[in-house]
Amino acid sequence: MRAEKSDVLVLFGASGDLARKMTFPSLYRLARRKLLNVPIVGVSFSDWKTADLKEYARRAIRDAGIRVDAKVFARMTRGMKFVKGDYSKPGTFRDLKAALGKAKRPLFYLEIPPSLFEMVTYNLQKAGLIEGARVVIEKPFGHDLASAQALNASLLKVLREEQLYRIDHYLGKEPVQDLLVWRFGNTLFEPVWNRRYVSNVQITMAEAFGVEDRGSFYDAVGALKDVVQNHMMQVVALLAMEPPTSASAHCLHEEQVKVFASMRPIDPKNFVRGQYDGYQKVEGVKKGSRTATYCALRIDIDSWRWEGVPFFLRTGKALAATATEAVVEFRGPPKRFFDAPGVAIPQTNRLRFRLGSNAGVGLDVQAKRPGEGMHSEAVTLNVDFSQALGDSPLPYERLLGDALTGDPTLFATERAVEGTWAAIDGILGDTGPAHRYAKGSMGPKEADRLTAAYGGWTAPLGVTVK
Ligand code: BG6
Repeated sequence: MRAEKSDVLVLFGASGDLARKMTFPSLYRLARRKLLNVPIVGVSFSDWKTADLKEYARRAIRDAGIRVDAKVFARMTRGMKFVKGDYSKPGTFRDLKAALGKAKRPLFYLEIPPSLFEMVTYNLQKAGLIEGARVVIEKPFGHDLASAQALNASLLKVLREEQLYRIDHYLGKEPVQDLLVWRFGNTLFEPVWNRRYVSNVQITMAEAFGVEDRGSFYDAVGALKDVVQNHMMQVVALLAMEPPTSASAHCLHEEQVKVFASMRPIDPKNFVRGQYDGYQKVEGVKKGSRTATYCALRIDIDSWRWEGVPFFLRTGKALAATATEAVVEFRGPPKRFFDAPGVAIPQTNRLRFRLGSNAGVGLDVQAKRPGEGMHSEAVTLNVDFSQALGDSPLPYERLLGDALTGDPTLFATERAVEGTWAAIDGILGDTGPAHRYAKGSMGPKEADRLTAAYGGWTAPLGVTVK
């Protein structure tokens, strides 16, 4: 059954930071591709008129480094309206209803603090605006399993699950979606994608910058909840899931959820936390804070496919580089004929998925070292997606476009969100020590023990570890 397209896009929090940084540039790019054909209505507390919203959108697009084409901008802002109001007041929703006119299938995008999700959704319902609507919300979806369940239960009193679109912007990234095509669009990899051939999987999400101006937000959250529970877990699911029956949203989601359900409770011994030097001086960070700006963990997936294959995850702020890479490391060959005398080269194949700005895939293989003897040397077969495949949509461009057309494939479901919280439940309460690490390093050395038996952490392409 084809979903009906939305007939108006309503941005709650239209004057906010996310709208400026992500939403307007993404909507402009959609409009440029003629994929945005509905009016935009902005709602916020700001004392604005429609002209102010247009100006804000224009500046946001320009600040994102995009040249604003007058025709495209006119198309994007045709029918644009601004509704000023307090989200707790019924009057705001009456004004919104009037602004929506005859629209029957609004897409409400709640770019607002999560504490307001329920208030806004319930007020939309009271105003009679929910039937036929879709609602997009942004993480965090709760702060542990119980709060995620409570939020879901509360929202699902007034919405059906298929009306609720939970954004995890990692799923909007082309190289993340490529994991599915790579695995299930080729015959070459799936036969070896299991415990017989894979030794371990590592995912590194490194960021060279600190928490900057997000001190008070970040200090209450920390690395595990900020990016592991959501972005990195979604990547694990795509790497570890079974082949789906079809590429429908339902079948894909079913398989992803099974991965979370198969995760063994994480042993706190397999969880290492770190904090970069100088973090405590960031504005908004509490004195003596023990919040982790780095964490590393080992996940075990109890399934026929993955029994005995650890998945190692690490992420951190203020590290040596900004790079997100998932590495599938294969077992070595049964005999090592080609080691140079005295130099044991790890003869393992590694498939490296670069999921960040230099998106692409590399495959480390052994080739003959030129010259005397018969010795091997590691070389990398590399594909750079932007060179090979051209320009990609921005994550929010893809996700907002999908929400407007009613395609839920790349959104997190209720069961996925709860599954990821359940998987990390055992380490949420463990505040343990946050080991100090130097800015520009790859995190605290205490994390090295997790991967020691597997030859250590694999540095993302081009990252030199100090
Ligand atoms: C966000 C986190 O969800 O993802 C940030 O809150 C993080 O702390 C960001 O920096 C990373 O996203 P990306 O797309 O830049 O890798």
